[in-house]
Amino acid sequence: MDMNKFDLDTPCLVLDLEILEENLGKMQASANAAGKKLRPHAKTHKCSILAKKQLEKGAIGVCVAKVSEAEALVNSGVHGVLITGALAVERKVKRLAAFLRRSPSLMTVIDHPKNIDLLEKHLADHDLRIDVLVDIDIGLGRTGVSPDRGLELADFVMASDHLRLRGIQAYAGHVQHIQSYEDRRKASKESLGRASALFRRLQAKGTGCTIFSGSGTGTSDIDLSIPELTELQVGSYAVMDAEYMSIETAGSTALSDSFRPALTLLTSVVNVSHETHVTVDAGLKSLYRDGASPRVVTREYSGLRYDWFGDEYGMLSPAEGSHSLPKLGATLELVVSHCDPTVNQFDCFHIVRGDEVVDVWPIDLRGKSQ
Ligand SMILES: Cc1ncc(COP(=O)(O)O)c(C=O)c1O
Repeated sequence: MDMNKFDLDTPCLVLDLEILEENLGKMQASANAAGKKLRPHAKTHKCSILAKKQLEKGAIGVCVAKVSEAEALVNSGVHGVLITGALAVERKVKRLAAFLRRSPSLMTVIDHPKNIDLLEKHLADHDLRIDVLVDIDIGLGRTGVSPDRGLELADFVMASDHLRLRGIQAYAGHVQHIQSYEDRRKASKESLGRASALFRRLQAKGTGCTIFSGSGTGTSDIDLSIPELTELQVGSYAVMDAEYMSIETAGSTALSDSFRPALTLLTSVVNVSHETHVTVDAGLKSLYRDGASPRVVTREYSGLRYDWFGDEYGMLSPAEGSHSLPKLGATLELVVSHCDPTVNQFDCFHIVRGDEVVDVWPIDLRGKSQ
């Protein structure tokens, strides 16, 4: 392509191929060493090329949050897709039933008898079957059913004609970003422990359950030692973000020592009228406002702090004391605050080796929110 990343039009997303490969390889190697499978969450990157890279490294499939994401991945040839949110509305179940034939390996979760009834009804219409996991709420309170109702739901699935019970899912989203490693370790063990007990009971009942899917980037190294957990659905580790970079790992190092930020955003200075700050061209519409503050990684300006400055603009000012400010037209590189919703704002990743742009990968699941 013969282009330097700093010549790209801004704001834009840049993905460092070497760091990405390193992150994917590290997580896969840790899972392999612990005898676990990896089914990474594609909600983070929304990119079928990246999902295929995860499969090439050894992942058994990928997770998605939405039916429309599943459709896009299946259409691009990705197998082993797990939809991690239960389908509560009939039109979604219809949509799933209509394309399930194209991907017999597709799985979904259920967390209510109504999900089971809807799937049963529409899969019967198509004479199809689907593998399901019971989604267990282990403390987040967002989706899933409480562990003590898990057996009952599992029985409903087993009594159905078109659903095959394969196991459980339990995701401790409330635990992933706990700053202290020790507190996070305790919280994850306790949360997943509730689901482990249920999984053992399901196995003892002779249900033939073989899948316990869960975990996230913040607790992956902790959860690898949970015997019952069979697969990890980690997402952010692939590209990382400022929110995850600062949490502590075992030995009091930062998580960014294990998984480095492969994803950055380039933004240009568009106004230098003030002595106190400069204005850049990345605002709310390109840098999602959630989690930690974005971090300037351009070395000479790493002492500057980013603040949102409206839809299209951001402000860079000295984090403390005084600091030289970049010139009008200068391009700076930032680690994003929260990778998932930021990625969803862009059409493509510019793939780089060092500073050289070597490829462009469409973020083809972008906007697939249904
Ligand atoms: C159900 C589920 N599983 C896995 C993940 C991946 O988590 P992380 O990005 O922390 O690795 C998420 C992220 O929100 C999720 O919602």
